[in-house]
Amino acid sequence: MRKLAAGNWKMNGSRDSLGEITALANAYSAPGCDILICPPATLLSRLSDVSGPAIATGAQDCHAKTSGAHTGDISADMVKDAGGTYVIVGHSERRTDHGETDPDVRAKAEASLTANLTAIVCVGETLEDREAGRTLDVVGTQMAGSVPDDATAANTVVAYEPVWAIGTGKVPTLEEIGEVHDDIRAALVTRFGEDAKGMRLLYGGSVKPSNAAEIFAVSNVDGALVGGASLKAADFGGIIDALAAS
Ligand code: PGA
Repeated sequence: MRKLAAGNWKMNGSRDSLGEITALANAYSAPGCDILICPPATLLSRLSDVSGPAIATGAQDCHAKTSGAHTGDISADMVKDAGGTYVIVGHSERRTDHGETDPDVRAKAEASLTANLTAIVCVGETLEDREAGRTLDVVGTQMAGSVPDDATAANTVVAYEPVWAIGTGKVPTLEEIGEVHDDIRAALVTRFGEDAKGMRLLYGGSVKPSNAAEIFAVSNVDGALVGGASLKAADFGGIIDALAAS
């Protein structure tokens, strides 16, 4: 399995940020892991033009439909047309800001697969869920509801992102990360069989160069979905190096 370092720029970046991509492209011509940057939709096409063969690009969301009267949205086909090969679906910020439900996320993931894009399906518990001991139940329900039936190791990635760890500098213990990732793997294998052993499971939430190596040593962690630390090539490079060495 090729591990994956995925950067999610969220609502950050302008044309000036393209220099971060060219810096990454110059540094990693034959990286030891897959590298992905998901910029805001405004930059996807430009960034895809300069990212080079070693760095994939993708979108942070897509609409479930292919086209039509949906002001402000972009379709999976449009992502592909702009040079993207991945789509993040169901990020907790989409679930919170836009009220996206598991069926919404599943429909977006299905649209991504239909467009021959790889879907990164995000799941994760709130602090309230964790403190109430509901983490595995909540994540299990999100997985069952959000991952499409035609998911395979080749077309789908799962990102476990505890909501309380995103952008906060707080990270679960390595045992807590391992517990959830092992549970996700077991649920995927039960549902999809042996193929799911090769499906990449990313951890996300305050991953930095300084904590990446220990997180990548946890069982069933096959990469990271990185927000803040993906904005600068130097920071993201530290995470890519840790993943390639893991
Ligand atoms: P963070 O964000 O790395 O800034 O915590 C992760 C994410 O939301 O994907």
